Amino acid sequence: MPATVNDEPRNIPRHIAIIMDGNGRWARERGLPRTEGHRRGADTVRTVCDACGELGVDFLTLYAFSSENWKRPKREVQALMKLLEQFLRTRTPEMMEQNIRLQAIGRLHALPPACQQQLHRSIEQTSQNTGLTLILALSYGGREEIVDGVKSLLDSIERGHLDKGMIDTEVFSKHLYTRYYPDPDLLIRTSGEMRLSNFLLWQLSYTEFYITETLWPDFGKEDLINAIRAYGQRHRRFGAVA
Ligand code: FPP
Repeated sequence: MPATVNDEPRNIPRHIAIIMDGNGRWARERGLPRTEGHRRGADTVRTVCDACGELGVDFLTLYAFSSENWKRPKREVQALMKLLEQFLRTRTPEMMEQNIRLQAIGRLHALPPACQQQLHRSIEQTSQNTGLTLILALSYGGREEIVDGVKSLLDSIERGHLDKGMIDTEVFSKHLYTRYYPDPDLLIRTSGEMRLSNFLLWQLSYTEFYITETLWPDFGKEDLINAIRAYGQRHRRFGAVA
């Protein structure tokens, strides 16, 4: 039976991460340009943020642009960057109304200057909000993050702030882009692909996965609730015996 808004799940994950996939296929199925799929995908971002806020999710991390996405045709990359900038500019007042705090992870310095400026403006403006934390992964790659983490660790050692013998998983986590956030409890991937695509490689160690065939532009609150319900049925043992 499909879940309804009035029939909300009780076991809400604190942190949801999403690989938003299928914008291109959604557009192709309709004979539209891929960029139209991304535009509709941006509308879904808004719907899902609203739903997460209402359901009481604390953190939502969205894979909006990967390190590998730079290899796409120049026109598509430009369209995605423009869409991102537009999204930030037009949605920041809404984020203020909805008490959403915006954050970003990735090699943000690789983004076009206009995009970086708007991103920093939106982050700054929403920084005191206390509701949902929306984390956009931009120019993000899990392997790149780990390499940057190693460099940051070596820096701390060189400066005498850290001793090699003190390094453990907890210390290393503090050198990742995600150091301020808990690990995701639930990973959702749309459009049916069964891979991680270089997303949060370190942080997803004990995360529950939920894969749906639904393409990202078609993903809605009901789909989110179904994913959270499936999560609620899982028995998380974190490697221990139940
Ligand atoms: C994957 O679909 C999606 C992306 C590479 C970009 C995700 C971007 C958005 C959802 C819109 C912009 C985001 C924000 C935050 C405003 P795909 O193009 O790989 O789809 P395909 O696998 O069907 O080709």
